[in-house]
Amino acid sequence: MRTITSTRAIQLWRDAEAGSVGFVPTMGYLHQGHLTLVRKAAAENDAVVVSIFVNPLQFGPSEDFGRYPRDLESDQALLAGEHAHVVVFNPTPEEMYPSGFSTAVEVEGSITQILEGAKRPGHFRGVTTVVNKLFNLVRPTRAYFGEKDAQQLAVIRKMVSDLAMNLTIVGVPTVREPDGLAMSSRNVYLSPTERQAALVLSRALAHARSLWQDGERSAPRLGSAMLDLIAREPLAKVDYVSVADPTTLQEIEGTAESALVSMAVFIGRTRLIDNTTLRS
Ligand code: PAF
Repeated sequence: MRTITSTRAIQLWRDAEAGSVGFVPTMGYLHQGHLTLVRKAAAENDAVVVSIFVNPLQFGPSEDFGRYPRDLESDQALLAGEHAHVVVFNPTPEEMYPSGFSTAVEVEGSITQILEGAKRPGHFRGVTTVVNKLFNLVRPTRAYFGEKDAQQLAVIRKMVSDLAMNLTIVGVPTVREPDGLAMSSRNVYLSPTERQAALVLSRALAHARSLWQDGERSAPRLGSAMLDLIAREPLAKVDYVSVADPTTLQEIEGTAESALVSMAVFIGRTRLIDNTTLRS
């Protein structure tokens, strides 16, 4: 396994790589969710690039950029264990955004203004700017993103389609702990009590799914049922709960034929997101 830190070196590596390249962009502190993306990329491509870069552009001023967990050695050891032809791209912020850097890539419209976009202004602009630059450097055949960040996946698909970028975006189902908690690098922030309380997210989604299976199709009623369940957990504070159209991400006012049910919930100081898609 090779680690590359400069933008020039990753471009040269790509110039010499004749086969297909699967790309897994990450912010590091890798877990089984990331490794699932890596395995899929390895199964479908000749080579895999995993970027590890905590992107300052996508964090708001009061968010956790400074304390976001980082452990490059452990990430490298996990990737070395994958036995695939993996290249790690681990640039510094100065390498990605040298002095004078002043370009942004932004998907406009409601898709970036609602849900996470409403709660985290500028977040998606930071994501699309870095992902665009990473795509330019790595020139992947396919890029792999977790469905846990459902809105990020939709925004990236839109950018790729609007800008006619020549690659395939592959969405990969959320990987969960045995008790249901969606894997996330931010789970490390949770104390043991909070870790238990955090199960309220997957329980609320399971509740919505069970109501859906029993025939409930009213989006407002599905939303309230989840809010009622979350309200019973004292450590949880809802940021939003949404029952939206899975393609446009617009809130459904009445009856749903299918729905992306998503939420952001604070457990103590830690903001967790999760979602599921309900289809008939
Ligand atoms: O999902 C993430 O980890 C990040 O948003 C990404 C796609 C690596 C861009 O920094």
